[in-house]
Amino acid sequence: MAELILALDVPTKQAAHALVDDLKGKLAWCKVGLELFTSAGPSIISELKDLGFKIFLDLKFYDIPNTVAKAVSAACELGVDLLTIHCQGGLKMLTDAQESIEKYKALHKAAPNLLGVTVLTSFADGQMPGISQPIASLAYDLAGLAAKANLYGLVCSPNEVAKLKASYPMLHYLCPGIRPKGADIGDQNRISTPKEAILAGADFLVVGRPITANKNPRQALEAILTEMEEALQK
Ligand code: C5P
Repeated sequence: MAELILALDVPTKQAAHALVDDLKGKLAWCKVGLELFTSAGPSIISELKDLGFKIFLDLKFYDIPNTVAKAVSAACELGVDLLTIHCQGGLKMLTDAQESIEKYKALHKAAPNLLGVTVLTSFADGQMPGISQPIASLAYDLAGLAAKANLYGLVCSPNEVAKLKASYPMLHYLCPGIRPKGADIGDQNRISTPKEAILAGADFLVVGRPITANKNPRQALEAILTEMEEALQK
């Protein structure tokens, strides 16, 4: 059963609360990303957890292995459910980060699930500095590193999920770059509709502006949920 995660890409704690209050009862997951985490601080996570939300902390760690492993341990303390690191950090960074998760789990019985970001959905072929490899092939290579490091799953474009899942069925797949028909594409590039993403095999869809920038966020959320349910019945 695929799940929808709302990206709370808003500038303040107050804006985040106003949004989730409006969407109450329809949503199980929130994403806290760079903007909200930086402005509101870690307390936003406990506040959203107290409201009953599962938390995807999307800070996309990318640094030397020691630094990332320690940041992952610190994120475990926040009690989040999903956490991201960049696969481009390489095998040692991924392996050490996963080891931090496992150590924490052994001590505390629960830990976040770690997702490796393959290639940002805002990039199209030829746009990544210094990289001439086609993006789909680069995403495939990076997915191989995540699988080798025993990560829980991958963040990838909905356009790439079917091929990656066929090769790495043990991983879970979270797809951004979701745009319902007619929605503004903004800075995203490798996109699909909610229906296409579900049919391609996504386990989680993360959606921001098509809901948050809509005049009626609740209606936009409901329309996406209906589209997801219809696709799941196929
Ligand atoms: O507003 P929009 O639906 O484009 O938001 C997509 C969300 O997914 C953003 O919060 C963005 O940070 C995140 N994301 C992404 N591409 C990735 C990984 C995460 O767009 N590869």
